[in-house]
Amino acid sequence: MKMTLTNTNMQNINADWLVLGLFENAAENSQFAEIDDSLQGELSRLRERGDLTNRVGDLLSLYDLPEFQSPRILLCGLGKREEFDRTKCSRAFLTVARKISEKETNCVAVSIPEVVSNSQLTSMVIESATREFLVGAVGQNLYQTKLSRFPIGELTFLLGKSNDETEAKRAFDYGTITGNAINTTRELINRSAGDIYPESFAQQVKEFADRTGLECEILDEKNLAEEKMGSLLAVGQGSDRPPRVVILRHQGGGNDAPTLALVGKGVTFDSGGLSLKPTDGMKTMKCDMSGAATVVGAMQAIAELKLPVNVTGYAGLAENMVSGSSYKLGDVLTARNGVTIEVLNTDAEGRLVLADVLALAVDRGAAKIIDLATLTGACVVALGEELTGCFSNNQPWADALKTAAENCGERLWQMPMDDHFAELLKSDVADCKNVGPRWGGAITAAKFLEKFVGKTPWVHLDIAGPAFASSNKPHREGGATGVMVQTLIQAASQFTA
Ligand code: BES
Ligand code: MN
Ligand code: ZN
Repeated sequence: MKMTLTNTNMQNINADWLVLGLFENAAENSQFAEIDDSLQGELSRLRERGDLTNRVGDLLSLYDLPEFQSPRILLCGLGKREEFDRTKCSRAFLTVARKISEKETNCVAVSIPEVVSNSQLTSMVIESATREFLVGAVGQNLYQTKLSRFPIGELTFLLGKSNDETEAKRAFDYGTITGNAINTTRELINRSAGDIYPESFAQQVKEFADRTGLECEILDEKNLAEEKMGSLLAVGQGSDRPPRVVILRHQGGGNDAPTLALVGKGVTFDSGGLSLKPTDGMKTMKCDMSGAATVVGAMQAIAELKLPVNVTGYAGLAENMVSGSSYKLGDVLTARNGVTIEVLNTDAEGRLVLADVLALAVDRGAAKIIDLATLTGACVVALGEELTGCFSNNQPWADALKTAAENCGERLWQMPMDDHFAELLKSDVADCKNVGPRWGGAITAAKFLEKFVGKTPWVHLDIAGPAFASSNKPHREGGATGVMVQTLIQAASQFTA
């Protein structure tokens, strides 16, 4: 997608679509009056009739207006001026992008009248619109034979003369890189488990790492055994598709600088294993590698942005299946750090995968760790489908993640980590068991993971709710969302020891 900046006025620009962003409180919006005037009061009439609300993401299309060169105008509500923020901005542009990308379109021009005079707002709009046009133009319909979404060729922003072109270019580049990263994550998740299994996931990541200049190391089942990763291996042992761990390295900060580790759960399909899931619970379980895919997308952006920090991404990849060789209830596993685990539910497999990969990240010298996982249904019960659960052994590091999330308009919520939850994982036969009681299940899962990070500052993000959406909405496609990709990029860019 190409970008151009122009100070042509909105009547004279000739694009396939002219998108006009309008705030709700139109009276205070001088530009509203200007457009309204040029349309002989048509906007005011539409407002009075209730056809034009200007609520966030409400759209109204107007065609072939003689006053405008562009044949199609899309009026897009931005909500109240004083409440306008990143979240509202992306929601509005995602809705626009999803509408426009339904048909083949070459050029889209965007004008938010009030942006012309406010440079901070300009940057946010350029960055967000760029990202959302990339994300919104790609759907989950990867296997449909007839195309139903079309990428936009060129994006033109109507800006005043006073705007800084270098800054506009920076915002566009940042939007492009983060948008493409989110789409990388989404595509990995949206592909079926028939296409994406540990080996093919690793192979795809290797190909893009070679393109992006990331170092890539792949551990196969033999390497994993040498690395004593008995917990991850057990989860994968029932599948015909052997497990893998992929390690991506970005060395932007020099050899002596501390390393941030990003660790993702990559269960390419979670059948539940012998503790088999019912159909309804299994339907979307191709999404159970979302944590790993999020790490991969973020690593792509971190490399492309050339962030001056050292970041290592780890994807723990296994398929949780049923067969004669599946791991069983009552099995005792020895994790990489020597902790023994009694398996009492093979569907609590994500923590078994992460246990070994977290321990590996610690052994390889991570100064701080963030892990991401579609780990528990209990987290979805607690926080719903939009919020990420945040768990940590280190409050300043948890605060840093909260700030990172806030900076990019993503939502996470910290959960308690009281010691008594760890008691619930005591086993009579091994050091611990892999499940506690039903209540507080998201927290016991986090307490389990905590056993494998030692004293390293660590944040665990449970994305079971927001990673995968069950249905299409005007403001977002169903399927993979790419949640937390932006937060990881932010956390990496602000990372210090
Ligand atoms: N992958 C699931 C968690 C999940 C649930 C992700 C819903 C996305 C949407 C995980 O492996 C799992 O099965 N967790 C169990 C844990 C239980 C057995 C302690 C759960 O949440 O039921
Ligand atoms: Mn499971
Ligand atoms: Zn799972």
